[in-house]
Amino acid sequence: MKILVTGGAGFIGGNFVHYMVNKYPEDMIVNLDKLTYAGNLETCKPVEDKPNYKFIKGDIADREFIMDLFEKEKFDVVVNFAAESHVDRSIEDPEIFVKTNVMGTTTLLDACVKYGIQRYHQVSTDEVYGDLPLDRPDLFFTENTPLHTSSPYSSAKASADLFVLAYHRTYGLPVTISRCSNNYGPYHFPEKLIPLIISRALNDETIPVYGTGENVRDWLHVYDHCVAIDLIVRKGRVGEVYNVGGHNERTNLEVVKTVLHALNKPESLITFVTDRKGHDMRYAIDPTKLETELGWKPKYTFDTGIPMTIQWYLDNKEWWENIISGEYQNYFEKMYVEKGRAKE
Ligand code: NAD
Ligand code: DAU
Repeated sequence: MKILVTGGAGFIGGNFVHYMVNKYPEDMIVNLDKLTYAGNLETCKPVEDKPNYKFIKGDIADREFIMDLFEKEKFDVVVNFAAESHVDRSIEDPEIFVKTNVMGTTTLLDACVKYGIQRYHQVSTDEVYGDLPLDRPDLFFTENTPLHTSSPYSSAKASADLFVLAYHRTYGLPVTISRCSNNYGPYHFPEKLIPLIISRALNDETIPVYGTGENVRDWLHVYDHCVAIDLIVRKGRVGEVYNVGGHNERTNLEVVKTVLHALNKPESLITFVTDRKGHDMRYAIDPTKLETELGWKPKYTFDTGIPMTIQWYLDNKEWWENIISGEYQNYFEKMYVEKGRAKE
C-alpha cells in the first residue's frame, strides 16, 4: 500500500510516520509537510534513510500541487495530520487556521474523490466537543456529543470534520475520523504545556500557568494514539467517528507539579498568568467504542508515560534546544511578555 501521511514533520504525525515505516516495511509511507514553524525535519531523521519512506515538501491547501501529486503518486490511503494546532495562536490569528485546517482538508478530500482513494482518515480532536463542567465528573465526551466549539482552532477542526462526513455521504468517499484527547511524548513542540514545562524547568525558568490552573485535560501518550489511528484506518467502519483517550484526567496544576517533582525543581517556579480567552474547562474522553469495536487499549498511563517523556527530553536536548533558541524566542516574547501575560 502507498500511504500519504500529511503533517509528518510535526509532533503526532512524526511519531506516526516512525511507527508506520517500522511496522509495515512492505508499505510505502509518503510524508507531505509544509514545514511551518511546527514542522521539523530533525523529527524525521530516524526514518529518513528507510527504503519505504519518502518526504515531500508542500502545502495541503495548494490545489494545483495536490492534484499533481495525487496524479503522480497514486496513493491508496491518506491520513491527514497537517494542521495549525495551537489554540493560543488561533486566538491571535485565526485566518491560517481556516486556510490549512478547513481548505487544506477539502482540497485533500477533492483529490481523494478524483483519484478513488481506498481510505481517507481525518485526525481530529476532542476540542470539537467544547468543554465539560468541573462539577460533573460523571460526564464524558462520546461520539454523539454535539459539536460545540470554543476557539478558532477547534471551530476550524470541527468544520473540517463536517466536510469529511459530507464527502462520505455525498460522494461515497470511504472516510474515518478519530477525535483524540491531549497527547504528550517525544518530539512535542515546546509551545505546548508539557514540553514547555520540561524545557523551562530544566533552564530554571518560570512556568506560566493560565488562570487558576484548575482546567482539566485528559492526557494520552502519543504512541497509544498512533496505534489507535493505525487500527481505525485498517479496521474501522467507513463513515464512523472514533474517540481516543485513556482516562488520564489531570488539572494543569497537577501536571506542572508532577513534572517539577520528577525533575527535582521547586514549585516556586510556578507563575500564575492571565487566562487564555474562552479557556475550555475540562476535556474527558469516553473511548468505549474504540475499545469494544476494535479492541484498542492504551499501553501507557500518565504515571508511566510522563517519566518516559521526561527522559526523552533529557536525552534529546539538541532537538528542543535548537527550537527554543530560534524564532521561538520571539513567539514567547510576543505571547507571554509583550501581552503582559507573564510576570517576568
Ligand atoms: P503540530 O503542530 O506539531 O504539527 C503539524 C504539522 O503540520 C507540522 O509539521 C506542520 O509543518 C504541518 N503543516 C501545517 N500546515 C500545513 C499545510 N498547510 N500543509 C502541509 N503541512 C502543514 O501538530 P500535532 O500536535 O502533531 O497535531 C497533529 C494533528 O493532530 C492536528 O490535526 C491536530 O489537530 C490533531 N490533534 C492534536 C492533538 C495534540 O494533543 N497535539 C490531540 C488531538 C488531535
Ligand atoms: O485536546 C486536544 C488538543 O490538545 C489538541 O487538539 C491541540 O492541538 C493541542 O494543542 C492541545 O490543546 P490544549 O489547548 O489543551 O493544549 P496546550 O498544551 O496548549 O494547553 C494545555 C492546558 O495548559 C490548557 O488548559 C492551557 C494550559 N496552559 C498552556 C500553556 C501553553 C498553561 O496553563 N500555560 C501555558 O503556557
